[in-house]
Amino acid sequence: MFLKNKLFALLIISVLGHINQNVYAQSKPSELNTEQKIDALLALMTVEEKVGQLNLYNGFWNVTGPAPEHGGAATKYKHLKNGWVGAMLNVRGTEEVNKVQRIAVEESRLGIPLLIGFDVIHGYKTLSPIPLAESASWDLKAIEASARIAAIEASSAGINWTFAPMVDVSRDARWGRVMEGAGEDPFLGSLIAIARVNGFQGDDLTDANTIAACAKHFAGYGFAEAGKEYNTVDVGLSTLYNTILPPFKAAQEAGVKTFMNSFNDLNGIPVTASEFLQRDILKNGWDFNGFVVSDWASMNELIAWGVAKDKKEAAKLAITAGSDMDMEGHVYIKALADLINEGTVDVQLLNDAVRRILRVKYELGLFDNPYRYGNKRDEEKRTGSQSHRESVLDMAKKSIVLLKNEGDLLPLKKKGQRIALIGDLANDKSSPLGSWRLASDDETAVSVLEGMQKYKGNTLNFSNGPEVFKGTSTFLKELDINTTDYSGFEEAVETAKNADVVVMVLGEHGFQSGEGRSRTNLELPGLQQELLQKVYEVNQNIVLVLNNGRPLAITWAAEHIPAIVEAWQLGTETGNAVAQVLYGDYNPSGKLPMTFPRNVGQMPIYYNYKNTGRPIDKDNNVFYSHYSDVDKTPLFVFGHGLSYTTFSYSNLSVSNTYKTNKEITVSFDVKNAGEVTGKEVAQLYIRDLVGSVSRPVKELKGFELVELEAGESKRITIKLTEKELGFYNNKQEFKVESGDFKIFVGGSSETVLEADIEL
Ligand code: BGC
Repeated sequence: MFLKNKLFALLIISVLGHINQNVYAQSKPSELNTEQKIDALLALMTVEEKVGQLNLYNGFWNVTGPAPEHGGAATKYKHLKNGWVGAMLNVRGTEEVNKVQRIAVEESRLGIPLLIGFDVIHGYKTLSPIPLAESASWDLKAIEASARIAAIEASSAGINWTFAPMVDVSRDARWGRVMEGAGEDPFLGSLIAIARVNGFQGDDLTDANTIAACAKHFAGYGFAEAGKEYNTVDVGLSTLYNTILPPFKAAQEAGVKTFMNSFNDLNGIPVTASEFLQRDILKNGWDFNGFVVSDWASMNELIAWGVAKDKKEAAKLAITAGSDMDMEGHVYIKALADLINEGTVDVQLLNDAVRRILRVKYELGLFDNPYRYGNKRDEEKRTGSQSHRESVLDMAKKSIVLLKNEGDLLPLKKKGQRIALIGDLANDKSSPLGSWRLASDDETAVSVLEGMQKYKGNTLNFSNGPEVFKGTSTFLKELDINTTDYSGFEEAVETAKNADVVVMVLGEHGFQSGEGRSRTNLELPGLQQELLQKVYEVNQNIVLVLNNGRPLAITWAAEHIPAIVEAWQLGTETGNAVAQVLYGDYNPSGKLPMTFPRNVGQMPIYYNYKNTGRPIDKDNNVFYSHYSDVDKTPLFVFGHGLSYTTFSYSNLSVSNTYKTNKEITVSFDVKNAGEVTGKEVAQLYIRDLVGSVSRPVKELKGFELVELEAGESKRITIKLTEKELGFYNNKQEFKVESGDFKIFVGGSSETVLEADIEL
C-alpha cells in the first residue's frame, strides 16, 4: 500500500536522521499500537503540519455558512499539498473525494489522509424524515436503522464523518433548528442520541460503511434566548447539568468519536472559548478522547462576540479551551503556528489536539487505506436503492402523529368517496425533503398528491389553492411567503364544496425550519389559515395534514377541524407514508417529542416545568402563575399521539426494593381496547416531590413501544434505578435524594395512573 510505504520510508528517515524516535528504532510500524503510531507521526511533523491537521476546509462549491474572506480554491489546493489541511467538508462523491484525498495522501510530505465530513442529518441521497419527526416514532431500533442507511449511502460516496446527531434539547419552537434534534426531553433525547451514534458508527468503525459521528452542538445552543438563532445563552448550572448535557453524555458513553461546539455563548463565554465545557466537563470530566470541531467559523466569531481582538487572540482562546479543529474559520492556519513558535501557546496543547484527530483517523482505518470510503460502484448501487426507499418509508410512517380524530373521520374509506385534496404543499416534491438535505436531488420526494393517487377506489380532485411561497425556496436564502396573491383560492374552496372529505395539506416549507430559520410567529404561514377557514365554511369534513419542522400554534384548527395528522417533513417517501396512514394501511403510532403551544407567547413551553410557588388559582384572584389571555396548558402535550384504536391502562403496581437493591419495579397493563391492531408508546414519568433543588412536575424515565392486537393486553415492567431517580444538585453532584416520589403512567405526559413511593 502506497501510504504505508510512504510512512515507513519516513519512519526510516526519521531514525536515520537521529530523531529521537526509540519506538521506531526498535519496531516496524505494524507492531506499534495506535498511540505509539501517533507518537511516531507527531515526532515527524513540523509545527505547521500539526496546525494543518487542525484545519478543516469547506469544499470548493457547497457552502453551508457565510463565505469566508480567505481561502479561494487555489489557496486551499496549495494548503492541501503543503499538508496544512486535516479535513474537508462538503466534498462529496467518490470522484471529488478521491481527488482531494489523493493530493493529501500522495502529494503532501507526510501523506496523512483527510477526514471527509458532511452534514448527513437525515439521510444522504435517500432521505428519512427530519430528525424531529423520526424522534416522534419513539422507535429506537428504527432510528438506529435510519442512521445506518444514511451511513451506508454517505460512506459509499466518500464521506467518513457526519456532523450528526444534533442532540440539542430545546423547549422553544421559535428556534428553527428544533427540526434537527430529538425535541424537548433529555431522557428521550439521550436514548435517541445513542441510537443515532450506534447507527452511524456501527460495531466496527473500520468497516467501509460506518462513519464517525459528531454530537453537536456542545452546548446550550437550543436555549438561545427568545429562540433567536445564534443568540446568547444564559442558563443556570442546574438546567445545564440536568437538561442540556445528558444527551451529550449519552453520546459520549456510546462512543461518539467527535463533538462539535456551538455558536452561542454560555453565561458570557462563547463556547468555542469555553474551557469549562470542553476541558473541565467533556475531556477531563467525561474522559472523552476524540476531538472537538468548532462550528462553522466560530473561532473567527470570537472577535464579533468581543472576547478576542484579532485572530491570534481567538486562536489562543480556542486552543486553550480545547477546540481542536477549526471549521472554515481560517484562524488556526494563520495564527496558531506563530503562537507556538513564539512560545505564547504551549506546544503540548497543539500535540494533544493533533493526537485526538489522528486517533480518529486511525480508528476509521484511513491509514490502512485512505480510499476505503468512496467506491463508484457502491455509490451507484447503494445511494437511492429500492431497499433504502423501503426503509425510509417505514420510518416515515412511524414518524406520523395523529393529533386529533373526531368522529373517526380517519381512516378514509377506500371506495366510493369524493376526496378533495387541497394545498400548494400537497403537490410539492421539494419541501417534504426538509432542511439539511444537501446531497439529495431536488424535487425527488413523493408528493402527497402522488401518494394519494395510488388509491384508485375514490375520486380524487386536487386543487392547489394559492401559492404558499413565491419563487424557488433554497437552503441559503430567506423564504418569500405569499400574502397577497389569491390565485387559486376560490377554485380550492369550490373543489372542497362538493367533496365527501377534504384533505388539506398545510404548513411550513422544508426550508422554513433549520439553521437560520427562527420565527416569531408559529401559525400557518401566508394565506393558509384564511384558506382553511374558508374551506371550513363550505365543508367541515376536513382532514388537516400538517407539514412542519417545529411545533406550530394551530389553535383554531385544533378547535374546529375534526382530524389533524402531524406529517412533518417526511423525506423521500413522504406522499406514500401520508397516504398509507390516511387510508389506514398503517395505523399511526407516533407521539409528540415536543409540546405544541396555543400561541407563540407561551414559548418556551415544555412538559417538565417547575411547579412554582403558585401553581393554581386558589382564591379566585389573579395572583398565580399563568397568563391572563390564554390558558396556561399547551395545545397538545408532550407524548401525545392517537391511533385508530384506543388503549387503556390498569393494574399499576410498584415494588419498592430501593433500600435493599437500589431498584424500583413498576408494572402495569396496557390493553388494546379498540377493534384494530395498533402500537402504543406506554410512558412512565416520575416526580421527586421534595428535593434540595426544585424538581420538575414530571420527568419521563421509561417507555415501551408495544404492538397489540384488538383486545390484547400486555403487562409492562419498567425498572427505575439510581440513574433514573437521581439528579444533579446545585453542587453538580449526581444524587438520589430520599423522600416521597410519585410514579405516573399513561399514553402521554397527561398520564392516567399514579402511585406514591418513598425512598
Ligand atoms: C452548522 C453545523 C453544521 C456546519 C457544517 C454550521 O453552520 O451549525 O451544524 O454541521 O455548519 O455545515
